[in-house]
This record gives sequence, structure tokens and C-alpha cells, in this order.
Amino acid sequence: MKQKVLFVCLGNICRSPMAEAIFREKVNNLNLSHNFEIDSCGTASYHVGEKPDRRTIKVLEKNGIKTQHIVRQFKKSDFENFDHILVMDNSNYLDIANLATNESQRLKINLFAKFDSQTPDNQVPDPYYGNMEDFEHVFSICERASNEFLKSIGN
Ligand code: 4NP
Repeated sequence: MKQKVLFVCLGNICRSPMAEAIFREKVNNLNLSHNFEIDSCGTASYHVGEKPDRRTIKVLEKNGIKTQHIVRQFKKSDFENFDHILVMDNSNYLDIANLATNESQRLKINLFAKFDSQTPDNQVPDPYYGNMEDFEHVFSICERASNEFLKSIGN
């Protein structure tokens, strides 16, 4: 059975497309792509149809990673179509949990940074109003959390 993993942030232009691209790169490098479906989305609709933020694209490219993602908003059917819904912060958690209609849906939601021991508050901070350093910081969290999340699901 494929593991279906969805990364969620607010706008789907900074953090979640970064997480999606990093996680996909790791899965590809481990030759595990046949075992996974990976996507990202936002809780908000402001940027639907756009490409990720140019700063996200820049940090990814610096690390040899490409993204083809086009912004989309979370939809209720994502609860059925994904096994793991990895959100970036508490606000995303509440927004998604409020859309859940039963406990099994709620149990799919997890803070992604719980998988990074170097981020004790479990938040991937929103870099939208920040600088390139903030985007680099998001990259580091996503990289460490991707490794640990993969291990946690048996890879
Ligand atoms: P993201 O960052 O949730 O990491 O994609 C943001 C992107 C856009 C906005 C806020 C945060 N915005 O207000 O448009």
C-alpha cells in the first residue's frame, strides 16, 4: 500500500511546497517513489494557481531540488485521500482539525516539526514576511523532519 503524505501550511507558497519538494527528493534518492504519493496545499485560497514563492524556489535550487508545484487549497476529500497530513504550525493544525468530521480524520493530522528534535516548540515558522535566512531555517527543519518522519513510518 502506498503511503500518501500531504504537507499543509497557510498559503502553500513558502513552507509546505518546500517540505513537499524536500521529502520527495529524499524518497526518490532512497528509490522509494513507488511507495509514496506526496502533495502539499494551503488552508487559505489567496495564492491558488500560483507557483511557490521565489524565495522557496531559490533555497530549493541552491540545494539541487526542483519543484513543479502549483498552489491548491486543502479540501475535505484530502482526509480520505491521504494517510498523513503534516501541518507546519498550531494555526494550520486548528484550521484542519476544525474541518475533520471524525476521530480517524483528526488522527491523521500531525505537526511536521514534531519530527525535528531541534525544534522544541514543534512549529515551522512562517517565513513570508522574513528574509532568506528564515527560508534557510525552514529548509533545515524540513530536512531533519523528513528524515525522522521517514524512519517513523518504517523507512
Ligand atoms: P506559507 O506562508 O503559509 O508558508 O505559504 C505564507 C504565504 C502567504 C501568506 C502568509 C503566509 N499570505 O498572507 O499571503
